[in-house]
Amino acid sequence: MMHDVDFLVIGSGIAGLSFALKAAEHGKVMIITKANEDESNTKYAQGGVAVVVDKSDSFEKHIADTLVAGDGLCDVNIVENVVREGPSRIQEIIDWGTHFDKTTNGMYDLAKEGGHSEHRVLHYKDITGFEIERALLKKVHENPNITLFTHYFAVDLITQHHLGEFVDKSTPDITCYGVYVLNTVDNRVEKVLSKVTVMASGGAGHIYSSTTNPVIATGDGIAMVYRAKGKVRNMEFIQFHPTALYNPGEYPAFLISEAVRGFGGVLRRRNGEAFMEEYDHRGSLAPRDIVARAIDAEMKKSGDDFVFLDIRHRSKSELLKHFPNIYAKCLSIGIDMARDYIPVTPAAHYLCGGILVDAHGRSSIRNLYACGECASTGLHGANRLASNSLLEATVFAHRIYEDAVRQVGQTVLPADIPDWDDSDTVLSNEDILVTHNLRETQKVMSDYVGIVRSDFRLERAMRRLGLLYDETEAFYKNTRLSVKLCELRNVIQVAYLVIKSAMARKESRGLHYTTDYPERSDKLVDTVF
Ligand code: FAD
Ligand code: SIN
Repeated sequence: MMHDVDFLVIGSGIAGLSFALKAAEHGKVMIITKANEDESNTKYAQGGVAVVVDKSDSFEKHIADTLVAGDGLCDVNIVENVVREGPSRIQEIIDWGTHFDKTTNGMYDLAKEGGHSEHRVLHYKDITGFEIERALLKKVHENPNITLFTHYFAVDLITQHHLGEFVDKSTPDITCYGVYVLNTVDNRVEKVLSKVTVMASGGAGHIYSSTTNPVIATGDGIAMVYRAKGKVRNMEFIQFHPTALYNPGEYPAFLISEAVRGFGGVLRRRNGEAFMEEYDHRGSLAPRDIVARAIDAEMKKSGDDFVFLDIRHRSKSELLKHFPNIYAKCLSIGIDMARDYIPVTPAAHYLCGGILVDAHGRSSIRNLYACGECASTGLHGANRLASNSLLEATVFAHRIYEDAVRQVGQTVLPADIPDWDDSDTVLSNEDILVTHNLRETQKVMSDYVGIVRSDFRLERAMRRLGLLYDETEAFYKNTRLSVKLCELRNVIQVAYLVIKSAMARKESRGLHYTTDYPERSDKLVDTVF
């Protein structure tokens, strides 16, 4: 089966849906998404959206906070653009039906998170992402120019390579003509031809064995772009959220929002001592890289798998009002956060690097844009400021839209793009091997490419990954496609890029800390592959 569209959007999180709603004014939009329509990192966002809306705040302060968190590696122009354009973009998602909490005097109830000098985080209780996803999906369903296909798994980008031409990194004008998609309901590969393709496939938390991300976050878009010889940047900067709930056996990990620390929560040792002041004058609200490393050091000293978060000085009614979801979750495992310490531990949370894009979201592949967590825009540098991600997705969805509507009229697709060919493959009866290799990859990444790295550990990880890569590629060549197999390939591909980028960075900066080069270098370099 073949589809022919103006705009193809891969992913139904905040990035994909925001772009689709705008592009639909100019043509037919097809959104494909690999699971249920709302399954995405967006749906689980808790803290909220950082944006300047209060008179006591200023663009300058938000810009400065973002630059400090990014530890010297942010693109200053991009930071300026995102922060200054943020309020208009957030007003749009409010106009599309998103609710944010207000105080009794009708002003937005602004929360505070790590690294922010002001209260500036718009939120809807502690389920902000769920509310955004609900509102945007409703709007998408009302739009006759948008068709949303669920359980459609994007496998590979279509480029000149599929017309028989040789393509490598030095090929000028690699061009995207669409994607091959696995329709997982009918189990067949379909061809989607598109004048403009927007990759909005989210993050890659599942390259690690402990993550706050839902299981869809396997880095598919980044792997697809890299396979198509597009460029990716700064993949070593994996953000570990300091405070995932320690609840052995739960996978993915449940997040205890940083807004709990913004509400007065303090990190403590088992004996009750608050320890963050020993690491940073900003205490429990220091930027995430610093807090996660401090917790890692504390756990190594104590031999425990967690530290404690203490918010007991806030009343039960206040906690229930601000954090009903977190309160209920903790209670379900016997922790009353109004009376008990909450055991917390860091977990892989956010990918700061990704598909290299310019200020208009254009990737290094013609007609292919990238938006949201899968993209590397330059906003986050070496460490993302909390709650800047939802903001970035809305600002770049708009920037891409402005560029893409010009581009769409100029694109002519070749007539002879072949169908997917799986004639030499057989159905697998050994899916368990895929599961085993996925677990092994995740363990290698968690054991050797975590919060604290070294050359020795990275080399060890790369050797082990090489074996997993060889086995998986051999299996892939002879086996009929399945989502699990494709995701495993993508996880291995992204893990490889993280290790390779980490090996290339001979310094410690932001989220990349290595005992072999503990200092920051004077030179500012991006790792681009
Ligand atoms: P996603 O929302 O992850 O959407 C990706 C989409 O792509 C999904 O629909 C997925 O199914 C689809 N997809 C992926 N691969 C394929 C494929 N091969 N084929 C087809 N479809 C595919 N950020 C903030 O700014 N504030 C917060 O408070 C906040 N809290 C967070 C809490 C949690 C628990 C988590 C996990 C993240 C949080 N973040 C927060 C980060 C933020 O939620 C994400 O970075 C952001 O939502 C990413 O949006 P996105 O649209 O780029 O990707
Ligand atoms: C949180 O609520 O702590 C997550 C915020 C974010 O990741 O930006």
